[in-house]
Amino acid sequence: MTAAIVADDVSRTYQLDGVSVPALRGVSLTVDPGDYVAIVGTSGSGKSTLMHLLGGLDRPTGGTLLIGGRDVSTLSPDEMAALRNTTIGFVFQSFHLLARTTAQDNVGLPLVYRGVGRRERRERAATMLERVGLAHRITHRPNQMSGGEQQRVAIARALVTGPSVLLADEPTGNLDSATGQSVLALLESLVDDGVAVVLVTHDRDVAARARRQIVMKDGLISETR
Ligand SMILES: Nc1ncnc2c1ncn2[C@@H]1O[C@H](COP(=O)(O)OP(=O)(O)O)[C@@H](O)[C@H]1O
Ligand SMILES: [Mg+2]
Repeated sequence: MTAAIVADDVSRTYQLDGVSVPALRGVSLTVDPGDYVAIVGTSGSGKSTLMHLLGGLDRPTGGTLLIGGRDVSTLSPDEMAALRNTTIGFVFQSFHLLARTTAQDNVGLPLVYRGVGRRERRERAATMLERVGLAHRITHRPNQMSGGEQQRVAIARALVTGPSVLLADEPTGNLDSATGQSVLALLESLVDDGVAVVLVTHDRDVAARARRQIVMKDGLISETR
Protein backbone atom coordinates (compact mmCIF):
# COMPACT_ATOMS: atom_id res chain seq x y z
CA MET A 1 0.00 0.00 0.00
CA THR A 2 1.43 3.35 -1.05
CA ALA A 3 0.96 6.12 1.50
CA ALA A 4 -1.12 9.03 0.25
CA ILE A 5 1.17 11.58 1.89
CA VAL A 6 4.51 11.22 3.63
CA ALA A 7 6.04 14.17 5.47
CA ASP A 8 9.54 13.53 6.78
CA ASP A 9 11.03 16.14 9.12
CA VAL A 10 9.19 18.86 7.24
CA SER A 11 9.73 22.49 8.21
CA ARG A 12 8.32 25.78 6.94
CA THR A 13 9.84 29.11 7.84
CA TYR A 14 8.07 32.27 6.65
CA GLN A 15 10.02 35.43 5.88
CA LEU A 16 8.13 38.47 7.12
CA ASP A 17 9.69 41.94 6.85
CA GLY A 18 13.17 40.42 7.04
CA VAL A 19 12.28 38.32 10.09
CA SER A 20 12.20 34.51 9.98
CA VAL A 21 9.05 32.98 11.44
CA PRO A 22 9.52 29.23 11.99
CA ALA A 23 5.91 28.01 11.69
CA LEU A 24 6.83 24.31 11.38
CA ARG A 25 10.04 23.00 12.86
CA GLY A 26 10.32 19.36 11.77
CA VAL A 27 7.10 17.40 11.43
CA SER A 28 6.90 13.76 10.33
CA LEU A 29 3.55 12.27 9.43
CA THR A 30 2.19 9.58 7.13
CA VAL A 31 -1.35 9.63 5.80
CA ASP A 32 -2.56 6.27 4.45
CA PRO A 33 -5.51 5.65 2.14
CA GLY A 34 -8.72 5.66 4.20
CA ASP A 35 -6.98 7.30 7.18
CA TYR A 36 -8.95 9.62 9.45
CA VAL A 37 -6.71 12.11 11.24
CA ALA A 38 -7.58 15.08 13.45
CA ILE A 39 -5.02 17.83 13.94
CA VAL A 40 -5.50 19.84 17.11
CA GLY A 41 -3.48 22.49 18.96
CA THR A 42 -3.58 26.08 20.07
CA SER A 43 -3.86 28.99 17.66
CA GLY A 44 -0.53 29.69 15.99
CA SER A 45 0.83 26.17 16.57
CA GLY A 46 1.22 25.54 12.82
CA LYS A 47 -1.92 23.58 11.94
CA SER A 48 -2.88 25.57 8.85
CA THR A 49 0.72 25.72 7.67
CA LEU A 50 0.89 21.94 7.90
CA MET A 51 -2.42 21.54 6.05
CA HIS A 52 -1.24 23.82 3.23
CA LEU A 53 1.89 21.70 2.85
CA LEU A 54 0.00 18.38 2.94
CA GLY A 55 -2.31 19.75 0.26
CA GLY A 56 0.48 20.96 -2.00
CA LEU A 57 -0.67 24.58 -1.68
CA ASP A 58 2.74 25.49 -0.30
CA ARG A 59 6.17 23.87 -0.19
CA PRO A 60 8.38 23.00 2.76
CA THR A 61 11.57 24.97 3.39
CA GLY A 62 13.15 21.82 4.87
CA GLY A 63 12.60 18.07 4.98
CA THR A 64 10.92 15.85 2.42
CA LEU A 65 7.29 15.80 1.40
CA LEU A 66 5.78 13.13 -0.85
CA ILE A 67 2.25 13.58 -2.17
CA GLY A 68 0.90 10.59 -4.09
CA GLY A 69 4.45 9.21 -4.03
CA ARG A 70 5.96 12.29 -5.68
CA ASP A 71 8.58 14.47 -4.03
CA VAL A 72 7.11 17.98 -4.25
CA SER A 73 10.57 19.58 -4.34
CA THR A 74 11.06 18.09 -7.82
CA LEU A 75 7.83 19.48 -9.27
CA SER A 76 7.26 22.70 -11.23
CA PRO A 77 4.31 24.92 -10.22
CA ASP A 78 2.25 23.46 -13.09
CA GLU A 79 3.09 19.92 -12.04
CA MET A 80 2.14 20.79 -8.45
CA ALA A 81 -1.19 22.17 -9.61
CA ALA A 82 -1.85 19.03 -11.66
CA LEU A 83 -0.92 16.79 -8.72
CA ARG A 84 -3.29 18.74 -6.45
CA ASN A 85 -6.07 18.52 -8.98
CA THR A 86 -5.81 14.73 -9.24
CA THR A 87 -5.01 13.82 -5.62
CA ILE A 88 -6.22 16.40 -3.12
CA GLY A 89 -9.50 18.01 -2.13
CA PHE A 90 -9.30 21.04 0.15
CA VAL A 91 -12.11 22.45 2.30
CA PHE A 92 -11.69 25.76 4.13
CA GLN A 93 -13.43 27.08 7.24
CA SER A 94 -14.83 30.03 5.30
CA PHE A 95 -15.98 27.90 2.32
CA HIS A 96 -14.18 29.98 -0.41
CA LEU A 97 -17.04 29.72 -2.90
CA LEU A 98 -17.50 32.08 -5.84
CA ALA A 99 -20.30 34.42 -4.74
CA ARG A 100 -22.03 35.06 -8.06
CA THR A 101 -21.87 31.47 -9.24
CA THR A 102 -24.43 28.70 -8.73
CA ALA A 103 -23.70 25.69 -6.54
CA GLN A 104 -23.48 23.55 -9.67
CA ASP A 105 -20.90 25.77 -11.36
CA ASN A 106 -18.90 26.21 -8.13
CA VAL A 107 -18.67 22.43 -7.82
CA GLY A 108 -17.77 21.97 -11.49
CA LEU A 109 -14.95 24.51 -11.39
CA PRO A 110 -12.04 22.10 -10.63
CA LEU A 111 -13.02 20.16 -13.74
CA VAL A 112 -12.40 23.21 -15.93
CA TYR A 113 -8.70 22.81 -15.21
CA ARG A 114 -8.94 19.21 -16.39
CA GLY A 115 -10.41 20.22 -19.70
CA VAL A 116 -13.77 18.58 -18.98
CA GLY A 117 -16.53 20.05 -21.18
CA ARG A 118 -19.37 22.12 -19.76
CA ARG A 119 -22.06 19.50 -20.15
CA GLU A 120 -20.08 16.77 -18.38
CA ARG A 121 -18.97 19.25 -15.69
CA ARG A 122 -22.58 20.05 -14.95
CA GLU A 123 -23.55 16.39 -14.83
CA ARG A 124 -20.73 15.45 -12.49
CA ALA A 125 -21.38 18.50 -10.29
CA ALA A 126 -25.07 17.63 -10.04
CA THR A 127 -24.21 14.05 -9.05
CA MET A 128 -21.82 15.28 -6.39
CA LEU A 129 -24.35 17.80 -5.03
CA GLU A 130 -26.83 14.95 -4.78
CA ARG A 131 -24.26 12.95 -2.84
CA VAL A 132 -23.94 15.74 -0.24
CA GLY A 133 -27.71 16.08 0.03
CA LEU A 134 -28.10 19.26 -2.04
CA ALA A 135 -29.90 18.05 -5.16
CA HIS A 136 -32.55 20.72 -4.48
CA ARG A 137 -30.01 23.58 -4.32
CA ILE A 138 -28.02 23.24 -7.53
CA THR A 139 -29.10 26.57 -9.01
CA HIS A 140 -28.70 28.52 -5.75
CA ARG A 141 -25.87 30.95 -5.26
CA PRO A 142 -23.87 30.95 -1.99
CA ASN A 143 -25.77 33.92 -0.49
CA GLN A 144 -29.01 31.98 -1.00
CA MET A 145 -27.80 29.08 1.13
CA SER A 146 -27.19 28.45 4.84
CA GLY A 147 -23.66 28.03 6.21
CA GLY A 148 -24.09 24.26 6.39
CA GLU A 149 -25.28 24.14 2.80
CA GLN A 150 -22.36 26.28 1.65
CA GLN A 151 -19.94 23.96 3.45
CA ARG A 152 -21.56 20.99 1.70
CA VAL A 153 -21.08 22.73 -1.64
CA ALA A 154 -17.42 23.28 -0.74
CA ILE A 155 -17.08 19.58 0.11
CA ALA A 156 -18.78 18.59 -3.17
CA ARG A 157 -16.33 20.85 -5.03
CA ALA A 158 -13.40 19.21 -3.21
CA LEU A 159 -14.70 15.75 -4.16
CA VAL A 160 -15.71 16.26 -7.78
CA THR A 161 -12.24 15.35 -9.04
CA GLY A 162 -12.24 12.06 -7.09
CA PRO A 163 -9.33 12.89 -4.76
CA SER A 164 -7.68 10.24 -2.57
CA VAL A 165 -7.17 12.76 0.25
CA LEU A 166 -9.59 15.33 1.62
CA LEU A 167 -8.03 18.05 3.78
CA ALA A 168 -10.38 20.22 5.82
CA ASP A 169 -9.16 23.18 7.91
CA GLU A 170 -11.77 23.71 10.64
CA PRO A 171 -14.66 22.58 8.44
CA THR A 172 -17.18 22.87 11.29
CA GLY A 173 -15.70 26.07 12.77
CA ASN A 174 -18.35 28.38 11.32
CA LEU A 175 -21.32 26.04 11.78
CA ASP A 176 -23.76 25.48 14.63
CA SER A 177 -23.30 22.14 16.33
CA ALA A 178 -26.17 20.27 14.65
CA THR A 179 -25.01 21.42 11.20
CA GLY A 180 -21.42 20.61 12.16
CA GLN A 181 -22.49 17.08 13.05
CA SER A 182 -24.05 16.53 9.65
CA VAL A 183 -20.98 17.87 7.85
CA LEU A 184 -18.86 15.53 9.97
CA ALA A 185 -21.08 12.57 9.14
CA LEU A 186 -20.56 13.43 5.47
CA LEU A 187 -16.76 13.47 5.88
CA GLU A 188 -16.94 10.14 7.72
CA SER A 189 -18.91 8.57 4.87
CA LEU A 190 -15.91 9.42 2.67
CA VAL A 191 -13.56 7.59 5.03
CA ASP A 192 -15.80 4.53 4.64
CA ASP A 193 -15.28 4.85 0.88
CA GLY A 194 -11.48 4.79 1.31
CA VAL A 195 -10.78 8.53 1.06
CA ALA A 196 -8.18 9.73 3.58
CA VAL A 197 -9.62 12.60 5.65
CA VAL A 198 -7.40 15.00 7.58
CA LEU A 199 -9.17 17.74 9.50
CA VAL A 200 -8.16 20.55 11.82
CA THR A 201 -10.51 21.20 14.70
CA HIS A 202 -10.75 23.01 18.01
CA ASP A 203 -13.61 20.79 19.09
CA ARG A 204 -12.60 17.89 21.36
CA ASP A 205 -15.67 15.86 20.46
CA VAL A 206 -14.92 16.23 16.76
CA ALA A 207 -11.27 15.27 17.28
CA ALA A 208 -12.22 12.22 19.36
CA ARG A 209 -14.10 10.74 16.40
CA ALA A 210 -10.96 10.47 14.27
CA ARG A 211 -8.78 7.35 14.30
CA ARG A 212 -5.75 9.39 15.23
CA GLN A 213 -5.25 12.74 16.89
CA ILE A 214 -2.13 14.79 16.28
CA VAL A 215 -1.45 17.56 18.75
CA MET A 216 0.56 20.50 17.40
CA LYS A 217 2.55 22.81 19.66
CA ASP A 218 5.03 25.51 18.62
CA GLY A 219 5.48 24.07 15.13
CA LEU A 220 6.02 20.48 16.29
CA ILE A 221 3.89 17.41 16.94
CA SER A 222 3.81 17.31 20.74
CA GLU A 223 1.65 14.23 21.06
CA THR A 224 -0.09 11.56 18.99
CA ARG A 225 -3.19 9.94 20.46
N1 LIG B 1 2.13 33.93 5.58
C1 LIG B 1 2.73 34.01 6.79
N2 LIG B 1 3.76 34.86 6.98
C2 LIG B 1 4.37 34.93 8.17
N3 LIG B 1 4.03 34.20 9.26
C3 LIG B 1 2.99 33.35 9.13
C4 LIG B 1 2.28 33.21 7.90
N4 LIG B 1 1.30 32.29 8.07
C5 LIG B 1 1.39 31.88 9.35
N5 LIG B 1 2.40 32.52 9.99
C6 LIG B 1 2.85 32.29 11.38
O1 LIG B 1 3.15 30.92 11.52
C7 LIG B 1 2.68 30.40 12.76
C8 LIG B 1 1.72 29.26 12.53
O2 LIG B 1 0.56 29.76 11.89
P1 LIG B 1 -0.64 28.82 11.45
O3 LIG B 1 -0.09 27.65 10.72
O4 LIG B 1 -1.65 29.65 10.75
O5 LIG B 1 -1.20 28.31 12.87
P2 LIG B 1 -2.63 27.71 13.29
O6 LIG B 1 -3.34 27.30 12.05
O7 LIG B 1 -2.28 26.54 14.18
O8 LIG B 1 -3.34 28.77 14.05
C9 LIG B 1 2.07 31.60 13.50
O9 LIG B 1 3.06 32.13 14.34
C10 LIG B 1 1.72 32.55 12.38
O10 LIG B 1 1.73 33.87 12.84
MG1 LIG C 1 -5.27 27.82 11.32
